[in-house]
Order: sequence, then C-alpha cells, then structure tokens
Amino acid sequence: MSQFLEDVLKGLSAKEKYLQSKYFYDANGDKLFQRIMASKEYYPTKCEMEIFAQQTNELVAVLTGQSKEFDIVELGAGDATKSIHLLKGLLDNQVSFTYFPVDISANVIDLLHYELPKKLPALKLQGLNGEYFKMLEKAKTLPDKIKVVLFLGSNIGNVPLEKAGEFSTSLRAHLKPGDLVLIGFDLKKDPKTILDAYNDSSGFTRDFNLNLLLRINKELQGNFNLDNFYHYPTYDPATGATKSYIVSKVEQQVSIGEKTFGFAKGEPIFMEISQKYTVEQTDELAKQTGFELIHHFYDSKKWFLDAIWRCV
Ligand SMILES: C[S@@+](CC[C@H](N)C(=O)[O-])C[C@H]1O[C@@H](n2cnc3c(N)ncnc32)[C@H](O)[C@@H]1O
Repeated sequence: MSQFLEDVLKGLSAKEKYLQSKYFYDANGDKLFQRIMASKEYYPTKCEMEIFAQQTNELVAVLTGQSKEFDIVELGAGDATKSIHLLKGLLDNQVSFTYFPVDISANVIDLLHYELPKKLPALKLQGLNGEYFKMLEKAKTLPDKIKVVLFLGSNIGNVPLEKAGEFSTSLRAHLKPGDLVLIGFDLKKDPKTILDAYNDSSGFTRDFNLNLLLRINKELQGNFNLDNFYHYPTYDPATGATKSYIVSKVEQQVSIGEKTFGFAKGEPIFMEISQKYTVEQTDELAKQTGFELIHHFYDSKKWFLDAIWRCV
C-alpha cells in the first residue's frame, strides 16, 4: 500500500476526519499554489519576497559573516522565486556553495532542474525529491561543509504550535553546531487580513483544498463528488491558528478503492493549519530547541519575519 493511500485511509477513519496538507502538491496543486501566491489577498509571499529582493546584500552579509563556505539546503523549495535572489547574491559575491532544494513534489524538483540553470548558469544544483527529514538524513552524506537550511514561506506554520518545538528539535538533531537556519514566520496581525489571505476572492485557495479530493479520486480510485463539499477557512486571533476545512454539504458515502467512508451533513475534514507567531514566540522556539538567534529580517510592514538561527 502506498504511503499516500495509507495516510488518506488513516485520516478519513479518524473520529475527527483529516487529510495531510503535504499531499496538496501534485502538478495541479503546484499550479494552484502559484495562483494563490499571486492573488491580491495572499500577503506572505509578497512580504517575504520584499525581504529577499530588497535586503539581499544584508542577507548575504549575515550568512557569509558566519561562514565563508557552506552548502544550502532548502526545505520545501517550491518554485524558489524568493531564494533565487539570495542564490544570485551569493554567486555575485563569489561564495562557493551547492544548492540542494528539497521537495516532496517530484514536479517541483524537475521544474527547478529545468528553470534554475537558465536563470543562474553558474549555480551548482542537486535536487532532493522527498520529505524534509528523510532528505536531511540524505544530506548528512554530503561533503562535510556548514549547512545553511532555508525553510521559507512560513512552512513551519503548517506544524501545529504544540508540535513546533518537536519539529524544531528534530531539525536541530539533523544539523551540527555552527550550521545555520534561515526560517520564515508569518506574524500575528489584523485578523481580517489573515483570514482573507486564506479565503481569496478568486477561489484559488478553495480549489487548492478541493484539488486534494480530486487527487485522491485520480490516484487512489476515490469517488468524491466535489459539488458535495465546500471549503471553510477559519482564523482564531487568540491562538494565531488559521485552519482550513472541507465540509460535507450532505449526508453521503465516499469510496476509496474497497473502503467506504460515511459523511454526516456538515461534517468537516481538517485540511491544513497555518500558525501565526509573535516575534517573542519565535525567539523562544529557537532558544528552547538548541538554536541561537543571529538576526531578524522584517518586511517594511513588519508582517513577516525571516530569522537566522545558528545551531549551538
Ligand atoms: C507552501 S509551499 C512554499 C514554497 C516555498 N518555500 C515558498 O516559500 O514559496 C510548500 C512547499 O513545500 C513542499 N512540502 C510540503 N510538505 C513537505 C514535506 N513534508 N516534505 C518536503 N516538502 C514538502 C510542497 O511540495 C511545496 O512545494
């Protein structure tokens, strides 16, 4: 049984049904995520892009101030449109490094291998297709240089707050003293601004969520009728958690291969969390999990934080 099938059956058999957001990213999901990022409501990409495009020299200076030679491992690289500014800045400064983008989507890794050499011919590139920690294990067999791990886009927000410590501890355990992490956090702000970003008026976020049901239909012989479900995003300003659900409009049965799942009218499937942070929470996370804070980079609105942490 494939891992995808096993995870889907487990999630839909749970008392409170859920699906794992890492499965959003098939070729269609990758395209929809690009549309979300380009939508007027989705501010995180624009804020982080501003940091990477406008503070490239400062980013290069802070990283090279820590180490003259390193390799870059980017977790969940996506289309690398932000990191490309940093990669170019490092090449322009004659820093010698190899870029290892990690992504669970094979489509993403293929695209990066196709696109990046056209944009940055001098870039040494080796894509790693797989899960974050499995690929970090693999990265341990690479030449023993300082590693700079990029974890952008507030991907850490996809881990619930109570599990972020565990995630960050695992990340630290895969690295060694002196290694660096450049990690993006979406900061708490006006709740309406946040909710709108996960409920764009063009419906890309809705389609992105529903696309996982389509993917199950295509790859796992499912029979979800998409007309019988709707997308329901929420934001709780007290906890900072944005959550996406898909809700069943009617009482219905859905089959996946041999298995059948019953849905009550109004029953939700939990799809994804996107946790928002205060700066203090991010500093505390670093301190509690074996990192030392080196630098904070903010966009001009102070809506987004890219922190540089060093492994102690
Ligand atoms: C929200 S996108 C962000 C992309 C990019 N970092 C950015 O900031 O624009 C998340 C990316 O991480 C990848 N991803 C999600 N979960 C993953 C996992 N567990 N292991 C490896 N890659 C993962 C997805 O395929 C997707 O390309």
